Amino acid sequence: MASRIPVCAPVFTGKERTYVLEAVDSGWISSAGEFIAKFEASFGKLCGVRHVEACANGTVALHLLLHGIGIGAGDEVIVPSETFAASGNAVVYTGATPVFCEIDPRTWCLDVADALRRVTPNTKAIMGVDLFGMVADYAELRAGLAAMGRSDVKLIEDAAEAAGSRVEGKFAGSLADAAIFSFFGNKTLTTGEGGAITTDDVALGARLKFLKNHGMDQKRRYYHPELGFNYRMTNLQAAVGCAQVEAATDLFARKKRVNARYREKLAGIPGIRFAEVPKNQDVVPWLHAIVDDHLAGEDARDALLVRMLEHGVETRPFFVPMHLFPYLAKTPVAGLGALPVTETIAAKGICLPSGGGLTDEEIDRSIAALLQCREK
Ligand SMILES: Cc1ncc(COP(=O)(O)O)c(C=O)c1O
Repeated sequence: MASRIPVCAPVFTGKERTYVLEAVDSGWISSAGEFIAKFEASFGKLCGVRHVEACANGTVALHLLLHGIGIGAGDEVIVPSETFAASGNAVVYTGATPVFCEIDPRTWCLDVADALRRVTPNTKAIMGVDLFGMVADYAELRAGLAAMGRSDVKLIEDAAEAAGSRVEGKFAGSLADAAIFSFFGNKTLTTGEGGAITTDDVALGARLKFLKNHGMDQKRRYYHPELGFNYRMTNLQAAVGCAQVEAATDLFARKKRVNARYREKLAGIPGIRFAEVPKNQDVVPWLHAIVDDHLAGEDARDALLVRMLEHGVETRPFFVPMHLFPYLAKTPVAGLGALPVTETIAAKGICLPSGGGLTDEEIDRSIAALLQCREK
């Protein structure tokens, strides 16, 4: 049988090995060392932002950011329910309440009107999630908040999945008040585990650096004026990251090439649809995601994915919407039926093999498996 096609393997075509060995040989393997500052500078240049704070992973980056902008108990943060659990969990870590909102049925990113409807006097932030590399509409959110006289509400961009995507030429990570990225092993740019916060707010950046380093006073060692965290990236991670940023143009192009082939070959197949890319976006897709409207629901989708695996094709279902998680049952928007658009899309969503290293033959085999397994 032909080899199994992985759902999203990393691509290393640059200097990853060289830089990691340099880091090891230098003896700087923890959170000091030259690759960290280099990675922050090069990733900041790529995104077009003034400050980057490299972190241990995307989840802690999000927690650090929310904590750093002062979100805590009694506050509400509006988040689309269709996202990876870390988006909502980071809100819970701060003691604030996540208020889940709908996604737009065309883009699968946050539904701006629905998000704005959920703003209350307790709302401190709206977190857009750039799902699968599509970018949420931060300009509309900002305009909507201004029209409501609520420009005090912070805009956060969870760009964990959107490295390289652009809106009117501006990169994901530069579109809200601050953003986070994940560099997990399956992401478009990876450091193994890893994350970052990007922002143009230099004062916020300095505060995040302080909080990330245990909240230690920079002038008086081992004096901690405030509760802090150890959320630092290591020099080893940053070494891999430097190589990935250097190769970013190629890594982004690979993702786009794979996506274009899926879109071309699946165009016109009844029931199958892709997210609609708004005209002002240039998307670097992270996972190549489809919704199959011919599926009856989640059970039928999951059975289809099992059959595809039997054909040697790994896939992923869409994220289970967060408002359906038992530990979030007491949040304001919770339980089956609360967000019908989200629930329908999530139940019928499939992520096809997505690595930038896929060959045309592997993409075509994945498509053939999908089409054949749908027949059954
Ligand atoms: C939308 C989103 N937010 C946050 C995260 C968390 O990132 P990490 O896995 O690096 O902690 C992820 C990771 O997959 C994600 O997809």
